[in-house]
Amino acid sequence: MAKAYAPYSKFPVGAALRTKDGRVYSGANIEVASYPEGWCAETTALGHYVMGGGGEIAEIAVVAERMDRITPCGGCRQRLAEFSRPDTKLYLCDQAGVVETVTMGQMLPFGFSGEVLK
Ligand code: THU
Repeated sequence: MAKAYAPYSKFPVGAALRTKDGRVYSGANIEVASYPEGWCAETTALGHYVMGGGGEIAEIAVVAERMDRITPCGGCRQRLAEFSRPDTKLYLCDQAGVVETVTMGQMLPFGFSGEVLK
């Protein structure tokens, strides 16, 4: 979150993924002057995770200020679901720490699955 580039919304967000073998990939939101072209913290973290070799995701955390607890946007739920499992833990955090723990299945019930595309 400290590395967010969010001059337009002034709403810094941080995300981190830990793989089963202990690697941690973090990310922050990055905004651009053409607003729809910016992207979320979760997406940055997923980019680092993929480039770092991927693997099984054990847990995910998302943090923001000025909210009781942040929940990933719809697009990021779909992106996170692509690389995790319905039972993967997702920690919803505020500045002080974990506020609520849910699973990806709870976060994205009835999500679109790419199985049919294989
Ligand atoms: N944002 C995230 O980084 N993750 C989310 O799950 C929700 C929203 C960012 C995008 C934008 O830079 C700012 O929060 C305000 O929407």
